[in-house]
Amino acid sequence: MKMRMISRFAEMKRLGEKIAMLTAYDAPQARAQQEARVDAILVGDSVGVNILGYASEREVTLADMAHHTRAVRRGAPEAFILSDLPFATYDSPEQAVASAKYLQQAGADAVKFEGAHPELVQVLAAAGVPVCGHLGYEPQHCERRVHGKTFEEASKIFADAKILDEAGVFMLVIELAPAELAAAITRAVKAATIGIGAGPHTDGQVLVFPDVLGYTERNFRHNRRYAEVGAAMRNSAAAYLQDVRAGAFPTMANCSAMPAEALAQFEAEILERQS
Ligand code: KIV
Repeated sequence: MKMRMISRFAEMKRLGEKIAMLTAYDAPQARAQQEARVDAILVGDSVGVNILGYASEREVTLADMAHHTRAVRRGAPEAFILSDLPFATYDSPEQAVASAKYLQQAGADAVKFEGAHPELVQVLAAAGVPVCGHLGYEPQHCERRVHGKTFEEASKIFADAKILDEAGVFMLVIELAPAELAAAITRAVKAATIGIGAGPHTDGQVLVFPDVLGYTERNFRHNRRYAEVGAAMRNSAAAYLQDVRAGAFPTMANCSAMPAEALAQFEAEILERQS
């Protein structure tokens, strides 16, 4: 499945068919996306900020990533799953291979890491781990803004994309970069490019699922919300609390009654002896 999907992404790029990817962090999210026929699921280190309550992606551990990768795999047994190598788990080739193998055992088909490290791409490929690169805004390593608006930055990101491509990445995420730069990279590399906040001219798109679902009041320019789940969660919690406090939940419709004969015996033999 893994190699078939990797060839399929290359074919989609060749045919101009857009690759639609989403992040997922748990089994219900993954199940919903598999049912909707997602092309690939990313278990991103954005799990830290979006689900685990961390202040930054840097706090996410390999154990966190493996835990959420397992949950996503259980929810979407048929899906192609990429998992992020978290911060400081790919500082050497040996560490990168060990970390990637751990995520593969948890259910990942491929891993993604930030930055231009062609030596890691090669060593991972040799160890049987397909790699997706990540350039532009790199949440583990730089400030949140559009990267590549100056000639110097754009040239560096473009050169890094070509270096990663030559090293053998099958996919490249471009995050928060000018549309013209993402389009130029897309034309220049063999790998399928996946944009987020990088305009419409990449081979595919990824969004963070809680952003799509509208978990938070804050929205991003690059995002499109397809639901207001945050408001639904707050409203549901408030309505439930009110019902419990008012004695309106549960009712007998939410539980079972004892059959009359058993109740009569229970009252006669147990309750009456208590009094
Ligand atoms: O961690 C993540 O969700 C990501 C995407 C934003 C590409 O890396």
